[in-house]
Amino acid sequence: MPSLNLIGAGRLGNSLAYLAHASGQYQIAGIYSRSEASSIAAREFIGAGNVFENLAQLPPADLWLLAVPDGAIATVASQLAQAGVVNAGAIVFHASGALAADQLAALSPLGAQCASLHPAFSFADPARAVATFAGTLCALEGDAAACEALARLVHAIGGVPFQLQGGKDAKVAYHAALSMAANYLVTLSDLALQTANQAGIAPEIANQLVLGLIRQTLVNVEQLGPAAALTGPIVRGDAATVAQHLAVLPSTHQASYRALGEATVVLAGDRLSDAARSALLNTLQSEPRST
Ligand SMILES: NC(=O)c1ccc[n+]([C@@H]2O[C@H](COP(=O)([O-])OP(=O)(O)OC[C@H]3O[C@@H](n4cnc5c(N)ncnc54)[C@H](OP(=O)(O)O)[C@@H]3O)[C@@H](O)[C@H]2O)c1
Repeated sequence: MPSLNLIGAGRLGNSLAYLAHASGQYQIAGIYSRSEASSIAAREFIGAGNVFENLAQLPPADLWLLAVPDGAIATVASQLAQAGVVNAGAIVFHASGALAADQLAALSPLGAQCASLHPAFSFADPARAVATFAGTLCALEGDAAACEALARLVHAIGGVPFQLQGGKDAKVAYHAALSMAANYLVTLSDLALQTANQAGIAPEIANQLVLGLIRQTLVNVEQLGPAAALTGPIVRGDAATVAQHLAVLPSTHQASYRALGEATVVLAGDRLSDAARSALLNTLQSEPRST
């Protein structure tokens, strides 16, 4: 049975180690964290593993998970390399969504196979996380042998692995995609709610109006794809309405409206005539009105 060392006994590390142990297909070997209290709590939560006080004491293992904050991954990888405990052929991985396997480069000269495994999941509370993790997509990137072994781990813990092709740039693009989807949708919701407030609509009605439309639109995007799901003044070529919107929006909201409007013109593609496209772009790129 493959063994796993856990470095960084936080939310993600505890959850993945718990799931690996619970699968019955992995043995938890060593647990090391910055504070011994976290390591001891992790051993209790996972129900397996031995706590070690420093990296140099960790036992050999087939898999090494560096579940430390993103900013500490490269440093801990260097410390681990200096400790000289990672066996040749071992698989070392981190779980950052933004960073690639090259953060672990210090371990490659030792013969380690390095990768990143990012579950698209929020591990806010490990006890809840392990109960709801099944079916989570997990992005893999890095050395081929490591990705193969980690795909087996992902399957064992109930996740769904997929491979990112293209190394470091692909990882950054992957993270940009997630950020746009998860974060910019929040910002866009807020801008729409503020604009509804500007229209004098009561907050509870504005919530129903804006969030209901977002839900309905997401279903359309899922079922039809983004281009076919597009409705509204831009895809209709209605530059006059777009100009009216810009006339009432405060200057703080105009840049976002204009930028998304231009992207929407591109998405509308040949549903717009050349003349309509030019009129829309002229309006969207017109001199911002000062408020
Ligand atoms: N949480 C999520 O939802 C989530 C989702 C996807 C990916 N991730 C990724 O998972 C990784 C861990 O995130 P997290 O949310 O689990 O963080 P976290 O809850 O803050 O846990 C990080 C752990 O790392 C330990 N640590 C910090 N510096 C260390 C060092 N120098 N040496 C050893 N241990 C150290 C901390 O130790 P002490 O407790 O001992 O102080 C802490 O327990 C990150 O790469 C993150 O991007 C997280």
